[in-house]
Amino acid sequence: MAEDHPAVAAEARADEGSSMSAGSPADEGSSMSAGSPVVDPVADVDDRAAEGALRPRMLAEFVGQRVVREQLSLVLDAARGRSHAPDHILLSGPPGLGKTTLAMIVSQELGVPLRVTSGPAIQHPGDLAAILTSLEEGEVLFLDEIHRMARPAEEMLYVAMEDLRVDVVVGKGPGATAIPLGLPPFTVVGATTRAGMLPGPLRDRFGFTGHLDFYEPAELEQIVRRSAALLGVRLTAEGGREIARRSRGTPRIANRLLRRVRDWAQVRGDGVLDERAARSALEVYAVDERGLDRLDRSVLEALCLRFGGGPVGLSTLAVAVGEEPETVETVAEPFLVREGLLGRTPRGRIATPATWQHLGLRPTGRVQPELPLAEPPPA
Ligand SMILES: Nc1ncnc2c1ncn2[C@@H]1O[C@H](COP(=O)(O)OP(=O)(O)O)[C@@H](O)[C@H]1O
Ligand SMILES: [Mg+2]
Repeated sequence: MAEDHPAVAAEARADEGSSMSAGSPADEGSSMSAGSPVVDPVADVDDRAAEGALRPRMLAEFVGQRVVREQLSLVLDAARGRSHAPDHILLSGPPGLGKTTLAMIVSQELGVPLRVTSGPAIQHPGDLAAILTSLEEGEVLFLDEIHRMARPAEEMLYVAMEDLRVDVVVGKGPGATAIPLGLPPFTVVGATTRAGMLPGPLRDRFGFTGHLDFYEPAELEQIVRRSAALLGVRLTAEGGREIARRSRGTPRIANRLLRRVRDWAQVRGDGVLDERAARSALEVYAVDERGLDRLDRSVLEALCLRFGGGPVGLSTLAVAVGEEPETVETVAEPFLVREGLLGRTPRGRIATPATWQHLGLRPTGRVQPELPLAEPPPA
């Protein structure tokens, strides 16, 4: 029964955000709510409810990310073989690619409990101390948005990760004393959209780092087919291909588009999710041919129309589209760069020939700076 499935309980906790810690829970939706609701890679409330049912539970069900999957399966098999908690695991990559899913899979595969919290929820070391000292042996502690944790808590975390110890401060002022408490072995799974923001000492405590990349259309097709089967809807091969193609390389978006196409098929079609249903529904939601969303398009339009194709600095570009620089950098840019629709150079962001073409514009007379640099490694 679904209710008895341990993952369901864990997931209920995960989907509530971080009910167990003080401070504002990590709400992916609120911190970076950009883009149209349909292609925004950041989860909203509707997604979180629906995603629970569609999340793969085991590594074997997890589609794509071949390299990370293989490396992770080695880490987990080795840990199981030694009957010991595995190394700490860091997962990085843009929103919607499967970081939370993998964290849940780690605890499932190891058959250990999962504790879920997030960086923004831990503003005081005391919040973290309370969590750490209540961990069971072998437990997985999932720290979402780990780059947003307050500095003093971060320091407590790396001592805990390395020495299995927390220093709990008792009393205040000159009379305060630190009492060291030993911890059972446990595994931190950290997730971040900005691996570069993690301080070196913290990054070094992770024995395994997996970087998730955008999915290939064939992989997204497989995900959409799997989801359709779980939802009990009929999806044709062409329908699946069309949804996959417009999902911006992101499983979360693929699953969301699938639900919108299902709506269309139910209300205006014959209930079958075919190519016509997919195209018509995506037209209603203004998802373009390449799956770009409102934020993506406004970034490209600002770049071309207001800054003549650049180079323009990230913060200027962010102001022009009315977003936080972090949102533009972590939500919009990775996909645009990977699609060759945006270049990052030391002097700023630049349009590429493909950018102008995608917007149906003619490049302005300005000389394009040298080739766009590849995205810096997540390091
Ligand atoms: N590799 C995958 N295979 C199948 N479904 C996936 C995969 N990765 C992500 N998903 C789906 O996409 C949704 C979003 O994934 P999630 O792990 O919440 O992303 P993140 O935490 O990186 O933002 C999940 O609910 C899951 O259903
Ligand atoms: Mg997540």
